[in-house]
Amino acid sequence: MEARAEQGMRVMGMISGTSVDAIDVAVCDLAPDTRNGPDALTLRLVAHAEQPFPPTLRERTLELLSHQAAPLADLTELNFQIGDAFAEAALQTLDTAGIGVEEIDLAASHGQTLYHLMESGRTPSTWQAGEAAVIAQRLGVTVTADIRVADVAAGGQGAPLVSFLDALLFAGPHTVALQNIGGIGNVTFVLGGGAPEDAYAFDTGPGNSLLDRAARVFGLPAGYDEGGQMALRGTVHDDLLAEMLAHPYYARHPPKSTGREVFGDGYADEILARAEQLLLSPDDTMATLAALTAASIVQAYRAFGPPRIEAVQVSGGGARNLALMDRLRAFLPESRVILYDESGMPGAIKEAAAFALLGYECIHGRPANLPSCTGAAASVVLGKITPGANYNSLLSRVAREVNPCSPTRKISLQAWKPNRPTPPPHTSTQWNRSI
Ligand SMILES: Nc1ncnc2c1ncn2[C@@H]1O[C@H](COP(=O)(O)OP(=O)(O)O)[C@@H](O)[C@H]1O
Ligand SMILES: [Mg+2]
Repeated sequence: MEARAEQGMRVMGMISGTSVDAIDVAVCDLAPDTRNGPDALTLRLVAHAEQPFPPTLRERTLELLSHQAAPLADLTELNFQIGDAFAEAALQTLDTAGIGVEEIDLAASHGQTLYHLMESGRTPSTWQAGEAAVIAQRLGVTVTADIRVADVAAGGQGAPLVSFLDALLFAGPHTVALQNIGGIGNVTFVLGGGAPEDAYAFDTGPGNSLLDRAARVFGLPAGYDEGGQMALRGTVHDDLLAEMLAHPYYARHPPKSTGREVFGDGYADEILARAEQLLLSPDDTMATLAALTAASIVQAYRAFGPPRIEAVQVSGGGARNLALMDRLRAFLPESRVILYDESGMPGAIKEAAAFALLGYECIHGRPANLPSCTGAAASVVLGKITPGANYNSLLSRVAREVNPCSPTRKISLQAWKPNRPTPPPHTSTQWNRSI
């Protein structure tokens, strides 16, 4: 077990993304970094895990997301069951890492997005399930949750929120694109020599969501195209790719965000039917879907990105799909396309670490959305607090901190030891940023 930070807090960040594959957990020590100024923090990853989503609950959740309807009793129950699954994932992670739950100051839970409504003509709104009170009861720890709604209430997209970590961590001389490929893809552009407020971000479109639906329909045992092997065997059907790229989402100007409501199973099934009509083999269909994810990312960079991007750092499960990575490298010869892991943090866990940071900012009452990234009218404090057994002592500690409310503008990663080897799928270039 690692030594605990003397000041600051040990925060556990948790998220299940649109893929509903796992509850990602990151235990982070966050502390003021007074040597770097009153607005600086250090983040040290202490332990992390991707806890598989409980299979029955996963089926129920995917079913609900696919049909977009359920009896109120089922929704009410699901909210509590997801909360329980998050608590279980937290306890499992702590147990494996040899960390006692009493060492955790705060749990920051993103929960599971059930619906993200950004359709024109509707009230912008979003819903992340996973009852925080259940997590607070089971862990005995204060919880911050419901992190997206304040940004949406302030006129933003409520996404991408991870940009806050990206923008603060990658501020420097280089222009970098931080590309996450989860169920949905999102990018943060951090401009060389710019301030955190100069960063901007948006969802690029489908990440793995369509690929995963195809993988399930084609009966792939993993439920996804492991390593992108199936896509690599196939040939891209250019006409179908062009048809798919005509979807209006890609041409919309940022800020913008999307989800399974648009690029979910319903849309995937339409594409699969079209591919069958065109007599594409399963391999060619998978190759064309992988090409769509890569092409929509590249097209978004050309349309909305900065003119020169020195490095593209890829995170999320899609970074393990070589068909995606190969195509990104081929289409972006002017940039170094590398794994996010080279920054010093495993790309698979970056979102969970980002939510730990956002929870830490919430309990300090500090705004943590970047309006340039989400489109919000103002920078606001994100999240709702559910008091746990440690609530009073936690608040006293915040009150004792110098400048608890001055907004954070710098973050550095402290050295950490991975608790399991990080897989290095073919990276050639070293990104020698010093952080
Ligand atoms: N080894 C792998 N090969 C190919 N794809 C993978 C691999 N591991 C994960 N993935 C893809 O990544 C997805 C999960 O990515 P993740 O970043 O967790 O997304 P989300 O944030 O939506 O949960 C899986 O559903 C799968 O499509
Ligand atoms: Mg996931």
